Amino acid sequence: MLIVNAVEKMRSLADQYRNTGKTIALVPTMGFLHEGHLSLIRRARSEADVLVTSIFVNPIQFGPNEDLDKYPKDLQRDIILAQDAGTDVLFVPVAKEVYPENFQTFVNVKELTRGLCGKTRPNHFEGVTTVVAKLFHIVKPHVAVFGQKDAQQALVIKRMIDDLCFDVRMFISPIVREDDGLALSSRNKYLTPEQRRRAGILYKSLCLAREMIKNGEKDVSVIKKCMKKEITAQQGKVDYIEIVLPDTLQPVGELTGNILIALAVYIGETRLIDNMLLHLSG
Ligand code: PAF
Repeated sequence: MLIVNAVEKMRSLADQYRNTGKTIALVPTMGFLHEGHLSLIRRARSEADVLVTSIFVNPIQFGPNEDLDKYPKDLQRDIILAQDAGTDVLFVPVAKEVYPENFQTFVNVKELTRGLCGKTRPNHFEGVTTVVAKLFHIVKPHVAVFGQKDAQQALVIKRMIDDLCFDVRMFISPIVREDDGLALSSRNKYLTPEQRRRAGILYKSLCLAREMIKNGEKDVSVIKKCMKKEITAQQGKVDYIEIVLPDTLQPVGELTGNILIALAVYIGETRLIDNMLLHLSG
């Protein structure tokens, strides 16, 4: 596995691959890799000749009071994990090169970023789309793989790909969960053992919603209320619980067809997100 830090080097490598007829897959990450990332890497491995994994803790997608400074890092471990999962090129750029002095151009997907996580994290998605657009220009992938855990992020990036005519095919990989259902996330590392036990409530509340719908509950507000009650009983602080259409993220009128139940919850100081897609008949 090659490790590349310089943007120019990555660009010329990408050109070389393309000029010799090789297809490129990209898995963008912020490092501190876990089984969720590795499932994206393995998925990407099967989609192209050359697999590039990027590791970059993107400063512009963090708000002023968020966890940029303490975001977990372990590059040596990441190198081993990325290589074992099939990465050919590990692209680890430095912030000064990605955002040189006088950097002032941003990519903003307007509507899809307003609700859900966009409410609490106003500039977050602009930071994500800007860095992903840059990574697409530098790595020149034919294919990119993102995780369903960040459902809104995946939708926003898909919108950007279509709106800006990026010639990149996007795949979304399923959520990987711990035994109690907690979705894997680098931020789980912040949880104390006692908070970790309580964090299982995110998934449990999604399962509760699914069960209520299966048993005929039609009122979205009743479902959200019950989820909130369960979460609060585990001392979780709800940032949002929403039941939306998966394509537009608009609140559902009625519980039929495809729906996305999404939530963000603080367990202690740690903000965790999760979601569940349901395909309802009727
Ligand atoms: O999902 C993430 O880890 C990040 O938001 C991404 C897509 C790597 C952009 O920094």
